[in-house]
Amino acid sequence: MGVTITLVSKLFGLMCVYAGVRSVSSDDGYGTEWLCYYDENGTEHTMNFSALPDDSDGWIFGGVYFYLYTRNNSNDPELLQTEINGQTKSQYFDPSRDTKALTHGWRGSGNDTWIQIQKTHFLDRADLNVIVVNWHELAKNPNYVWAALSTRYVGKQLAKLLNSMVDNFNTTGEKMHLIGHSLGAQVMGYAGMFFSKNMFRITGLDPARPLFELPPMPDEYRLDRTDAMFVDIIHTDGGFFGYKESHGQADFYPNGGTSPQPGCEGEDRGHVDSCSHSRSHEFFGESIQSGVPFTSYLCDDFQGFENGECKANTSSMGEPAQPRSEGNYYLHTRNESLYALGDEF
Ligand SMILES: *[C@@H]1O[C@H](CO)[C@@H](O)[C@H](O)[C@H]1NC(C)=O
Ligand SMILES: *[C@@H]1O[C@H](CO)[C@@H](O)[C@H](O)[C@H]1NC(C)=O
Ligand SMILES: *[C@@H]1O[C@H](CO)[C@@H](O)[C@H](O)[C@H]1NC(C)=O
Ligand SMILES: *[C@@H]1O[C@H](CO)[C@@H](O)[C@H](O)[C@H]1NC(C)=O
Ligand SMILES: *[C@@H]1O[C@H](CO)[C@@H](O)[C@H](O)[C@H]1NC(C)=O
Ligand SMILES: *[C@@H]1O[C@H](CO)[C@@H](O)[C@H](O)[C@H]1NC(C)=O
Ligand SMILES: *[C@@H]1O[C@H](CO)[C@@H](O)[C@H](O)[C@H]1NC(C)=O
Repeated sequence: MGVTITLVSKLFGLMCVYAGVRSVSSDDGYGTEWLCYYDENGTEHTMNFSALPDDSDGWIFGGVYFYLYTRNNSNDPELLQTEINGQTKSQYFDPSRDTKALTHGWRGSGNDTWIQIQKTHFLDRADLNVIVVNWHELAKNPNYVWAALSTRYVGKQLAKLLNSMVDNFNTTGEKMHLIGHSLGAQVMGYAGMFFSKNMFRITGLDPARPLFELPPMPDEYRLDRTDAMFVDIIHTDGGFFGYKESHGQADFYPNGGTSPQPGCEGEDRGHVDSCSHSRSHEFFGESIQSGVPFTSYLCDDFQGFENGECKANTSSMGEPAQPRSEGNYYLHTRNESLYALGDEF
């Protein structure tokens, strides 16, 4: 596998650069037969779909862990475990309160700074059940393909836990909000799909594109608007690491939704895209605790928004997004924290 990737990458190096311009045509099989991407270090990788292993060769087995934080144990998470009989016990879970679940993407973990920051912001604001999903043992696989394939399994495990919470405690899907970044957004899509009740909301933070949107997968194999009552998506590296098309009920396109996001400019392509990709969770984290809203404007496209044609219908990107929001919303941000511009156009 490693050898195949290296060889293909050498052969198609130029095409990867070409494809990176985002004017992807399918003439050369890009997106249907092969795909290239950069990892966090800017190293180029090419995936040849017909050369992908079709059995468990290369699979890394690992666990999925659920950590509950509340105001009573804000720095001392409780590991939630579902017994064989479907019972989940918890000392801290409060069924009368809303539940937020957070998860990371490729090579991430539940300890990622942005997750811990969002957890803290949520608990500062209200007493909630915050569940951090740690699937690091699977996400750490250096082979993106395997990490991507694991999202379905991880999502199913989370759905199982949430189903058990509904059965064991007096709580409902209407109180649940799942938030995931990149591959973590795909995890949450699967969790919503496998959950047996109505899930209130899923927020996709620049949901992973390779192997979900490109090549185009059916809706049951990627986060889409049917996975919860309200699915909102923040696009910050659209067409590369993140979703380019709208797949939510409300899709937010800060600064047009593509790379480079303001403040991420530079020579190193991998760095620029990673920085832009991360903006989605930085914006969301800020929206939890900041009083300045990310006011966003419903519009047909970014050009129309920039031309000032769309001022009638607004929503707020991030945590305060109105669940009735529907369509594509555009906004500008600042180039560094604090990012939100409020109502400033
Ligand atoms: C990126 O570089 C760091 C530091 O050298 C290394 O630990 C990490 O594994 C690299 N990531 C990938 C995807 O190769
Ligand atoms: C992908 O692999 C198949 C089978 O090994 C090969 O026939 C094909 O030429 C490869 N395509 C690319 C783009 O490398
Ligand atoms: C949380 O702490 C409060 C105040 O100390 C206490 O009244 C409450 O019972 C605790 N709740 C749980 C679930 O431990
Ligand atoms: C943080 O990392 C430690 C050590 O790897 C691990 O045991 C723990 O489960 C992680 N916590 C979360 C919330 O992911
Ligand atoms: C279950 O929760 C609902 C809504 O929070 C509440 O009205 C009801 O009294 C609860 N039932 C029990 C048995 O705790
Ligand atoms: C943001 O823009 C200001 C004004 O143009 C500039 O001084 C600053 O260096 C920029 N910050 C970043 C992180 O790019
Ligand atoms: C936008 O706002 C206008 C004026 O408030 C309203 O008439 C119209 O129905 C709204 N359009 C959408 C798509 O929500």
